[in-house]
Amino acid sequence: MNYPKSVRIVEVGPRDGLQNEKVAVDVATKVALINQLAEAGLSYIEAGSFVSPKWVPQMAGSDQVFAQLSTQLPENSNTVYAALAPNLRGLERAIDCDVKEVAVFAAASESFSQKNINCSIAESLERFKPLAEQALANDIRLRGYISCVVGCPYEGSVDTETVAGIAKQLLAMGCYEISLGDTIGVGTPASIEKLLGRLLEDIPAEKIAVHLHDTYGQALANVLIALQMGISVIDSSVAGLGGCPYAKLANGGAASGNLATEDLVYMLNGLGIEHGVDLKKLIATGNFISRKLQRVNGSKVGIALQ
Ligand code: HMG
Ligand code: MG
Repeated sequence: MNYPKSVRIVEVGPRDGLQNEKVAVDVATKVALINQLAEAGLSYIEAGSFVSPKWVPQMAGSDQVFAQLSTQLPENSNTVYAALAPNLRGLERAIDCDVKEVAVFAAASESFSQKNINCSIAESLERFKPLAEQALANDIRLRGYISCVVGCPYEGSVDTETVAGIAKQLLAMGCYEISLGDTIGVGTPASIEKLLGRLLEDIPAEKIAVHLHDTYGQALANVLIALQMGISVIDSSVAGLGGCPYAKLANGGAASGNLATEDLVYMLNGLGIEHGVDLKKLIATGNFISRKLQRVNGSKVGIALQ
């Protein structure tokens, strides 16, 4: 079996994780979490989100978080701290905070797009164009997410052609990479293989990342398929935190649980794939944030190796 020699882990816990938590997390705790993740060797951390605080109050303190991070970064640090930006207002906040990388987020389902960012897919892509132009003009790198790549909580299964079309448009406006979000974790190795097979017809593997929520316990199996298909950028979240507040399941529950970074690192160790993360330090970080949130650690490896 062919696997990439190394993987770049995109740690989304401080953003995707904390955006969905009921317990309010103060700025100091967010900064401590991010610093511990960096100390554990994570070189790309999504540290916050410049969205409307009315929509996602948990991310309201992102400006203060970034202000504190920049003062603590050593001069030669290669750590990337990124943020979500849904519109020009979000990008302006990112520029004010001296953020070097932002991510726009589209969806492959109309209903989810409306619920999450209050506009259609086409409107969102139009909205992202000037944002992309301004970001690139300010030397800010741009990542693109697509949510609901295999299934939508409101519309059911999603067509791979729709995902491919949106991915190509995001790349054309300047995104260097597309992160494919299985927002409600319904994908299986079969549907992920089908999706990636279609995307790889048009897009090189180096421009694709996977972002797999573990709601149905499929995330690691889906990562394995993605690795076998040449994908080497994997999003994950410390302690398995995460979920989108606008992704409700049919039974009323929330689509929670990103793939836990600890579980990913353990599997990559077993496969002999490089990643640069110290598992022991990462587990300590997962325990730290789980205690703060008064919740059970969502990483199986984190619990097994406590
Ligand atoms: P809207 O209500 O249509 O926008 O929301 P608006 O332009 O009418 O603005 C409404 C209010 O928000 C105004 O304030 C604006 O100033 C303010 P008011 O005049 O009422 O006082 N506002 C902002 N404030 C701060 N920063 C901003 C900003 N923009 C507007 N950037 C909008 C549209 C996109 C803003 C809103 O829908 C929004 O913020 N949505 C974000 C939802 C979100 O963050 N979801 C979670 C992240 S996506 C995700 O988790 C999926 C992912 O993980 C991948 C996967 O798993 O699939 C990435
Ligand atoms: Mg997500």
